[in-house]
Amino acid sequence: MTGRYAVFGTPIAHSQSPRIHAMFARQAGIALDYVAIEAGHDDFAAKLAASGVAGANVTLPLKEDAFALCAGNVSARARRAGAVNTLLRDNEGWRGDNTDGPGLVRDLTERHGLDLRERRVLLLGAGGAARGVAPALLDAGIHSLYVVNRNSARADALADAMGEPGRVHARGWDALPALGEFDLLINATSAARSGALPPLPMGLASLRSAAVDLSYGEAAVAFLAWARAAGCTHAVDGLGMLVEQAAESFLLWHGLRPETDGVYAALSGQGDALVTAD
Ligand code: ATR
Repeated sequence: MTGRYAVFGTPIAHSQSPRIHAMFARQAGIALDYVAIEAGHDDFAAKLAASGVAGANVTLPLKEDAFALCAGNVSARARRAGAVNTLLRDNEGWRGDNTDGPGLVRDLTERHGLDLRERRVLLLGAGGAARGVAPALLDAGIHSLYVVNRNSARADALADAMGEPGRVHARGWDALPALGEFDLLINATSAARSGALPPLPMGLASLRSAAVDLSYGEAAVAFLAWARAAGCTHAVDGLGMLVEQAAESFLLWHGLRPETDGVYAALSGQGDALVTAD
């Protein structure tokens, strides 16, 4: 099995996806050519067509563009998220799926040992990243989801799209002090890229809380520092989610689920154990 695959987005130069898929391919004994292609709203469709790829990942800011490009040929989870991060070729053209949510849930439950069932969850942000993970959190059995966004109309739209008014609640940022404690707090905003997160009340978290930032590296530092100061026992960045969403995409393309712990360790600098072809 061979093939050309790519991740599209902007900025894309520092994407870890080519490295992750190269490690998965070595592990599976597949000769894989996976590259990063810089593309924006204006040139994504043309660059995708010109690339000759058999499948693609799509990242910021193109997940909604990819959803539109599939013209309805999308999985149920991508439809609910309104966003596509994985493209597969089928007889009708491009088929879209979204592996971000399952990747987050797998990282939290299996790598970090968190039980999501009956948890009270705060989701900060209502953009593409938030939409990608909300359906999978609900499917994982959380008790309730509070979507809090600077622009409260966008929070309303996300909550409406989930179609579970009893479990999903939309609020503006000014409502945060009155919301009480959460079991899980998720930063799905792009605030680290566009300035800074507005102040968060310490009362949102307790010693029983876990916090996750969907970004990793420098972009996750501020929120995770706040989470530790607020007492959260778990404060994790989005690197594990990145590896797990990639594994789920790899499964869709190649029919094999790669082992992810060695890849995660290699990327987080905790080990040099690249997974080998055997
Ligand atoms: P992404 O695909 O990363 O979600 P997006 O669709 O542009 O990107 O959404 C960015 C999210 O981060 C939005 O929820 C945005 O809030 P608004 O809808 O109110 O713009 C949020 N965000 C960005 N910068 C922020 C900041 N400085 N403070 C709070 N929220 C911010």
